[in-house]
Amino acid sequence: MNILIINGPNLNLLGIREPQIYQNNTYEELVNFLNELAIKHQVNIEIYQTNHEGAIIDKLHEGFFNHVDAIIINPGAYTHYSYAIRDAISAISIPTVEVHLSDIKKRENWRKNSVISDVCVNSFMGEHFASYQKAFEFIINERNNYAK
Ligand code: DQA
Repeated sequence: MNILIINGPNLNLLGIREPQIYQNNTYEELVNFLNELAIKHQVNIEIYQTNHEGAIIDKLHEGFFNHVDAIIINPGAYTHYSYAIRDAISAISIPTVEVHLSDIKKRENWRKNSVISDVCVNSFMGEHFASYQKAFEFIINERNNYAK
């Protein structure tokens, strides 16, 4: 099973950015955490981080043409307003799980809305790295439906 993991803008600054919200763990630690989950569940992953909206869309298209089985995406602030990312997720019809480190529903009003949630098969948020773990476990449980 092949899972593509996409992390959007400013997630490369984990460990530096607002530790009171995002804690002290670095982006490298998140990557290590994800690689360990992949080994544990015996799935192949590709982890991609970019600060650019179009690059996220290109990566979603690439996932489609490479026939990945599922996608985990944390689009950062694009979550709240990128109809282009929403359209890309909708266009490719690959099961996509939304994740957030923080609980966007309990933060500023403008941050509460996600424009991608309803084109994703599930959303996990507010559990820091464990949000990604929940997304992983959800996909593994659904693997008979998702694996090609
Ligand atoms: C985030 C939440 C977003 O609102 C924010 O813009 C981020 C990170 C999260 O993982 O909690 O960059 O997606």
